[in-house]
Amino acid sequence: MFNKKKLSVLLSITLALSLTAVGCGTKPSATTDKPATAGAPIVVKFSHVVTADTPKGKAADKFKELLEQKTAGKMKVEVYPSSQLYGDKEELEQAQAGNVQIIAPSITKLVGLNPKIQYVDLPFLFPDNKAVYKFWESEANKKLMNSFDKFSLKGLAMWPNGFKQFTDNKRPLLTPEDFKGLKFRTQAGKVLEAQFKTLGAGSATIAFGETYAALQQGTVDGQENTFNNIDTQKYQEVQKYLSVTNHGRLDYIVLINNTFFNGLAPDLQKAVLDSMAEATKFEIEQAELLDKASLESLKKGGKMQITELTPAQLGVFQKLMEPLYAEFESMISKEVIDAAKNASK
Ligand code: LMR
Repeated sequence: MFNKKKLSVLLSITLALSLTAVGCGTKPSATTDKPATAGAPIVVKFSHVVTADTPKGKAADKFKELLEQKTAGKMKVEVYPSSQLYGDKEELEQAQAGNVQIIAPSITKLVGLNPKIQYVDLPFLFPDNKAVYKFWESEANKKLMNSFDKFSLKGLAMWPNGFKQFTDNKRPLLTPEDFKGLKFRTQAGKVLEAQFKTLGAGSATIAFGETYAALQQGTVDGQENTFNNIDTQKYQEVQKYLSVTNHGRLDYIVLINNTFFNGLAPDLQKAVLDSMAEATKFEIEQAELLDKASLESLKKGGKMQITELTPAQLGVFQKLMEPLYAEFESMISKEVIDAAKNASK
C-alpha cells in the first residue's frame, strides 16, 4: 500500500524539483504553480493586506487596469486585498519564492531583509510629505530599493500612505506619562520597540490582519497607524482615543519577483514599468486625499476622542525620543539618516 510516509517523501521531492526549476531561471511566464499554456495570459498576482478602498488598494486595482490595457490582455493581474491570499510575513516569503509576483509591504516590514530601512520609524524624522518624496529621490533611498535584489525582489516604486498617529482604549495619550504601562501593537523591528520602551510602554509585533482582534480582545491597548488605516480597519470600534502626533511614517515599497520580471519579453517589461509609473502618480494623489478624508470621517463618526497635540506637547515627545537617533545610527547608517534630514531642509 502507498503509505503516508512515501507520499510525503514524494511531495518533498516534487517541491524541491519545482524550487530548483525556479532557481535555475525557468521562464516564469505564468504563475509558478501552473505551467504556461500557449495563448493564455501571463498571470500577475498582486497581494496586499489593506482593504481595496485604501490608497494602496486603489492603486493596485489601477495598476491592473493599466497593465491589462497596455498589454491587450497578454498579462492578467489578480489583486488579492485584505490578506486574502497571504498575511504580512507570508506575502514576503511567497514573493521571494515567486508564488505571488507583486507585493507592496510597509517599508518597516522589510526589516528582516535590510535593517537600514528602519529609518522610516525614527520618530519625527520627516516634517511633511514633500520631505518624504524628496528623500525617495536620493541616492541613499535608491540603494535601499536595490538592496532587495539579492532576495529575488526588484523595487518598482515607492507609494505613500501617510503619517502615523497613536490610538488606545485606556486614556487620552497627551504626554509620555500617559503611555506608561500600556502595550502597543507594532508592525516590526527594533526601532518601534525602542520607541515604545522610551515611552515606558510595552509592545508586540502583530500582523496587520490580526490587529483588530488583538485590540478588541485587549491583547494590546493601542497601536499606531495612519488615519486611513485606522478608518478602513474600523479601529474606532475598538479604540477610544486618538492623538494626532504625525510622529512617524507608514509608506510602501512595491516589489516584483525579479525572476518573473526578468523572464518577461522587453515590451511586457516596459508595460509593467509604465503601468507602475502611472499607478504611482495615482497612488500619491489618493494617499493625500484619503488621509484628509479619513480624518474627517473619524471626526464625524464621533466614536473616538480625537486630540490634536500642540507644538509644545509634541516637543516633549520629540525631545524624549531624540536619543533613538544615536542608538540606531550604526544599524540604519549615517548616510541614510543624513539623506532623510537633508530632504527635510
Ligand atoms: C500595518 O501593518 O499597520 C500597515 O503596514 C498595513 C499596511 O499595509 O498599510
